[in-house]
Amino acid sequence: MTERIISPGPLMAEADDPTIRPARLDEFVGQVQVKETLKIAIEAAQKRDEPLDHLLFSGPPGLGKTTLAHIIAHEMGADIRATTGPVLEKPGDIAALLTPLKRGDILFIDEIHRINPVVEEVLYPAMEDFFIDVMIGEGPSARSIKLNLEHFTLIGATTKQGLLGAPFRDRFGIISRLDLYSSEELVRIVTRSASILKIPITPDGADEIAKRSRGTPRIVNRLLRRVRDYASVKGDGTINREITSRALQMMQIDELGLDELDRRILFVIAKDFDGGPVGAKTIAISVGEEVRTIEDVYEPYLIQIGFLKRTPQGREVTPAAKKHLNNPQKTLI
Ligand SMILES: Nc1ncnc2c1ncn2[C@@H]1O[C@H](COP(=O)(O)OP(=O)(O)O)[C@@H](O)[C@H]1O
Ligand SMILES: [Mg+2]
Repeated sequence: MTERIISPGPLMAEADDPTIRPARLDEFVGQVQVKETLKIAIEAAQKRDEPLDHLLFSGPPGLGKTTLAHIIAHEMGADIRATTGPVLEKPGDIAALLTPLKRGDILFIDEIHRINPVVEEVLYPAMEDFFIDVMIGEGPSARSIKLNLEHFTLIGATTKQGLLGAPFRDRFGIISRLDLYSSEELVRIVTRSASILKIPITPDGADEIAKRSRGTPRIVNRLLRRVRDYASVKGDGTINREITSRALQMMQIDELGLDELDRRILFVIAKDFDGGPVGAKTIAISVGEEVRTIEDVYEPYLIQIGFLKRTPQGREVTPAAKKHLNNPQKTLI
């Protein structure tokens, strides 16, 4: 699979730049409701001198889940340890992470919907009553002993809240869903990042990058760097609308932030299946992608811009999408 410039997940060999990652809640743009909930929870916990409730963040990749986990640790003055669901295979894996935690420490589990069910079982009493049962020894002499834990805070992140069972979800005191960002919020993010990275950018340049970033901060920051390179080679280094359009045209990203694969998805539904409805699996096979990727990565944005509808019968394209497809010259300036 070739890497997409507009993938909301990190690309291979790309780490999110720590210098532009917001470190405090005040620097975190948008998601007003989520921030308000967190502010209150943090303040209340601090007032009572108690650790924070367990938290779950859900939403598409690149919207700030990991960033928020670190911000919370920072605001609470707590230590944070980070891991991801798929690496937690055995009860011992999670026990090793939990036992060293001090009161108030944060354990961040990314992709928490992908942890092994046997690990999930260990987490239940850990989250609720702060103890775990560990097995010592093997065979007939094996016995379980109870280990007490300090009062820690678990922060989980998931792109698929629906994949978390109700008993697991219920053990989180706060569940927050992050939504795609508005253009205006993305303009603020790109302007902030450009200023930190000392990249000259005009307001119309910021606007153009924001509009093509699929509602996703990670993509905004990536396009900013790519357009900066283009501007320094083909222009005088300043990012304006003209340079941005040319750079993104070269990368085959149209003025709505759609790339080749988005257009193929829309095209398959519009032409091969007469506008739909058609199942996600069929679409995935037709375009040669995994269903999960189609659902997590492509669809949220296509739905947000009103190009795609999810119905109980399957996916349908809208008249707006058909119009966009029929207008390739305009899409690529
Ligand atoms: N609300 C925000 N304001 C400013 N920058 C953000 C915001 N959310 C995310 N970012 C930027 O996007 C990058 C990716 O965010 P991240 O928290 O890793 O997303 P997720 O964990 O949801 O995939 C971060 O490194 C940060 O620079
Ligand atoms: Mg993350």
